[in-house]
Amino acid sequence: MTKQESPNIVNLTTKAVASIDAYQADKTEQARQDALANAVRLVRALETPADAIYKLFASPAILMAVKTANDMGIFTLLSEKRSAVSWEELAALKNADIQLVERIMRVLVCNGFASELGPGQYAPTDLSSKMTERKTIGTMDSLFIDFLPIIQKTPEFFQKSDYKNPGDPINGPFQHAYNTTGSCWDWLAKNPDALDRFNTFMEGGRDDTSHWTDWFPAQEQLLDGVSTDCPLLVDVGGGRGHDLVGFKQRFPIGAGRLVLEDLPSVIEDIQKLDSDIQRVKHNFFEPQPVKGARAYYFKHIMHDWSDDNCRVILKHTTAAMERGFSKVLIEDYIVPDTNAGPKEALTDMIVMVWCPGIERTRQRWIELLESVGLTITNFWLPHGYHKGIIEAELQGKV
Ligand SMILES: C[S@@+](CC[C@H](N)C(=O)[O-])C[C@H]1O[C@@H](n2cnc3c(N)ncnc32)[C@H](O)[C@@H]1O
Repeated sequence: MTKQESPNIVNLTTKAVASIDAYQADKTEQARQDALANAVRLVRALETPADAIYKLFASPAILMAVKTANDMGIFTLLSEKRSAVSWEELAALKNADIQLVERIMRVLVCNGFASELGPGQYAPTDLSSKMTERKTIGTMDSLFIDFLPIIQKTPEFFQKSDYKNPGDPINGPFQHAYNTTGSCWDWLAKNPDALDRFNTFMEGGRDDTSHWTDWFPAQEQLLDGVSTDCPLLVDVGGGRGHDLVGFKQRFPIGAGRLVLEDLPSVIEDIQKLDSDIQRVKHNFFEPQPVKGARAYYFKHIMHDWSDDNCRVILKHTTAAMERGFSKVLIEDYIVPDTNAGPKEALTDMIVMVWCPGIERTRQRWIELLESVGLTITNFWLPHGYHKGIIEAELQGKV
């Protein structure tokens, strides 16, 4: 370390320690995020540029090792056994070479996916246990098998398309990588294994944010004073219905008032769903069949589409809404104008290569919704997060 760098490191250490102390004292998500951000700044100051570049260069190998370990059943065995697990036991899972296991385990240990108790002796970590969850496996498999080929080809797509911001659902990085002309949704419908991985990935919610009704006042905003005759909540593009299941667990309302809509391939992929939840095969580029619902809920839908496409979806929605009663609820990132965090910045890249979609700032949300005759009544953000609910209603008086 040079003499010039030292004061910076001392300052960053002081800040990191102070924010970690603050998090210990007040266990909020915001305090955790602040402590993490300060710790990352300190790590960056300690890393040389050469360290950082080599870390980036080698990072795809972490994903490869994690995927291989998962395919071999290493995480399951580590998590099931209470005592130390040896190379021999891990290798026996697939009759693998012990030397290969040794090499893979080295990567897992130095990235926190397992811990080492001694030479060739391993124990699980929180991360290895997380890797045994069905939704995590769906997410990792979707990334490794379906997303990485597109990410790898995206710079080439931009070279060929003069660096235009992608927005066409049938001409983007996805089509370039897979040499196809249909949308990613058409492709999923024709690839059942990929569809299963994707839908499982969606069930996972992508991070540990709790169900939206844990921080959105659904009782007051949706249920109070509302007759039980009308549809209460239509989950448009709701995947396998996981968000409606979460809603019903918190608000056990009767049959027919919760409606799940998605493409036929997705609705047909559902293995099990509460029979009180009505399933509707629906293309949201066509008129909304459920009229006058209390709320039309779109989670991670608008971020999949350009403004022009969102306007088509939203106009079909506004045509079905009852003025002064129906609401639109959009759950997506509300990207901060400055200092966006890695979750929203990187999810923006993922939706860009896949759909191609876009994450929006507050101002972009306002402009989009106003352009279709909606007015935003509130941005609801759980403390410490940049993903929230945009609540809107039809402009004008009843
Ligand atoms: C990013 S996923 C979000 C799923 C779910 N709302 C969630 O957050 O877990 C987008 C969903 O939109 C659905 N979708 C895509 N195009 C659609 C269309 N034209 N009509 C209806 N649903 C569509 C997909 O099948 C998928 O389930």
